[in-house]
Amino acid sequence: MAPPIKLPKHITDLPAYTPIEPFEVLSARINRPPDKIIKLDANENPFGMSPRAREALADLRFAHIYPDPESRALRSALANFCAVPADNLLAGAGADELIDLVMRVTLEKGDVILNCPPTFGMYRFDGDLNGATVVDIFRKPDFSLDLPALLQAAEEFQPKLIFLTSPNNPDGSLITREVIERILELPALVVLDEAYIEFASPSDLGRSASLIQQVARRDNLIVLRTFSKLAGLAGLRVGYGAFPGWMMQVLWKAKQPYNVNVAASVAAIAALKDESYLLNTVAILVAERQRMLVELAKFGFLSPFPSESNFILCTVTGRNALELKERLANDHGIFIRYFNKPGLTDCIRISVGTPEQNDLLLATLREIVK
Ligand SMILES: Cc1ncc(COP(=O)(O)O)c(C=O)c1O
Repeated sequence: MAPPIKLPKHITDLPAYTPIEPFEVLSARINRPPDKIIKLDANENPFGMSPRAREALADLRFAHIYPDPESRALRSALANFCAVPADNLLAGAGADELIDLVMRVTLEKGDVILNCPPTFGMYRFDGDLNGATVVDIFRKPDFSLDLPALLQAAEEFQPKLIFLTSPNNPDGSLITREVIERILELPALVVLDEAYIEFASPSDLGRSASLIQQVARRDNLIVLRTFSKLAGLAGLRVGYGAFPGWMMQVLWKAKQPYNVNVAASVAAIAALKDESYLLNTVAILVAERQRMLVELAKFGFLSPFPSESNFILCTVTGRNALELKERLANDHGIFIRYFNKPGLTDCIRISVGTPEQNDLLLATLREIVK
């Protein structure tokens, strides 16, 4: 049926929606109960939330009351956790919501954003959705940024926003401080997505690796973070960002009033109170990452990239990567991510699981290649 009104061109031009299969549908499709599925395809935290977060959810008393639009309790807990003034912090329904919000308050149709693929897909998605012109500056084969190309594009296109991801998804590499400093000299707003930063310096939960404390001192740096990876709360949708002071008043005006729901908020606060749980689970995941890097490299057909995150990207040679992914899923209930696009030909990305899940993946791979 044709729409009775004319839709904006940038909306009709969006790529078609590709549905993501929820857990229960996956489980029914491969005829395996959900607890027999090993989901290593979305960089979720296999340990799930802290027991304290679970208790806080069980005790939730005010779900019938709208949440605090300013998420004051959560922002105050975050101010302690990150040592950033609460006045510079905003919570969102995942970092995803904040990526869109930043674009909505800064861009007019046709404004340019610089994107550095291969990277997280939401910058392009939200850029297209917001009618921006998204200019891709491809990373080098080792996934480091092509700084000269980026500086030249900045000169040529005068972007309003530059999206940087450190550690980068899908490879897990960090951007060096020097490179970020150079980019911050540009007359653009730099959005540094640190969704996985806690895995880059696990002994202090990302504090030494993060640039979040720089935000209050700069006028063009935004740092985004999330509870999805660190705290096992991906399904509750809660993330946060640190923003320069001038931007906060703009964001308060534009954000949806009740963007962080009460369940997400109490679970996130409880998760932050249980720092020993976070330290312990992140330490296990990082130790497992290191073990998996070594073990995966032993399969001659896999070349893993070093990672500072909770996933490992591998190029696959001499075997069909798609077929490998399909066999793991359909025959063994192990889900990994497959990529085949510019900069990511024949690649798989494996999220780090629990030690048992990783053992099972390795045993299954050995079985498959026998
Ligand atoms: C780099 C990066 N940023 C942000 C997100 C989304 O975070 P959230 O779950 O808080 O929306 C992801 C999720 O995969 C990601 O990889």
